[in-house]
Amino acid sequence: MYINATKLQKILKRRTLAFMIVEFVGKGGAGKSTLATSFVKYLENDPAVERVLAIDADHNMHLASALLGDRDVVPYSGALEELINLIGETSCQDYREALLTAERHIAFDVESEFFRKYSVSLGKISLMKCGGHTDDIRADRSCSHSLFTPLKLLLPNLELANGQWVVIDEKAGTDGVGTGVAAGVDLAVVVSEGTAASVATAQQIIQELDYLRVSHILALNKVRSKSQTDRVSERFGRPPDLIFHELEQLAEVEYGVVGPSDHDYQEFTKLVGMSQGFNSSRAIRLQRARSRLVKTE
Ligand SMILES: Nc1ncnc2c1ncn2[C@@H]1O[C@H](COP(=O)(O)OP(=O)(O)OP(=O)(O)O)[C@@H](O)[C@H]1O
Ligand SMILES: [Mg+2]
Repeated sequence: MYINATKLQKILKRRTLAFMIVEFVGKGGAGKSTLATSFVKYLENDPAVERVLAIDADHNMHLASALLGDRDVVPYSGALEELINLIGETSCQDYREALLTAERHIAFDVESEFFRKYSVSLGKISLMKCGGHTDDIRADRSCSHSLFTPLKLLLPNLELANGQWVVIDEKAGTDGVGTGVAAGVDLAVVVSEGTAASVATAQQIIQELDYLRVSHILALNKVRSKSQTDRVSERFGRPPDLIFHELEQLAEVEYGVVGPSDHDYQEFTKLVGMSQGFNSSRAIRLQRARSRLVKTE
């Protein structure tokens, strides 16, 4: 679902919704982790934001290393059984059954047992990370996508309060969307560079998001010129919603330390405004995640 400029202006005026699950997706190297990290930092400085849950949904763990520094946290990849017990009465071992029969929501409470175990908090930001490859994956007994299965229970069942945001940094390409983590988000930010390959992957991702019925906006990153933006707009059949210019200093400083420049600041303000046009509702996310399971049966 694409939002046009008129709708965006209306949304920006309304400014009602104050919580949201936003996921950054796109081709490898497009800038998902950079933009997700900057957006987390932008939200941290917004007085209307009470708490940000930053989730690294990439086992290459860029967001985690950008935000955690030397600190560590127990990976959520091992949290499946606890999540099953949190949302259901029975201790069923299968995630599909647990999702289809979930009876309880999960509140984002950093003092709760679950978030004390699986997140680490630094001021307003709480961070969750996934684990690395296991022996089961190495021996082909399970797929590396199973590392993210806990997110497929957590996100659709997460009940957010006002001022709570969740920012997810996805894996490269269509995998995070095609394997279902994206069904549990409110809004996807599709990040693309101006190259033909990056645009083609972004288009594939958009197809998968449409299949899941997840709303998205388009962010063009590393922009060098107006003519490049025009070329990309032509390929997508519409102008990008957010534009981030190529920044020379990004390559020179420690990863994730660069704050939003004045220009980026405007783009993140827009992103918050657009997010406010959507309903962040557990009921909608849960219904989407469930219908994906049923559709693929
Ligand atoms: N606007 C920008 N200007 C200049 N360099 C950028 C910009 N955005 C990102 N980069 C650089 O591009 C590289 C890839 O960025 P990043 O790691 O954020 O991409 P990614 O999409 O998360 O990649 P991956 O698919 O590997 O997770 C990094 O070196 C980063 O510093
Ligand atoms: Mg990344």
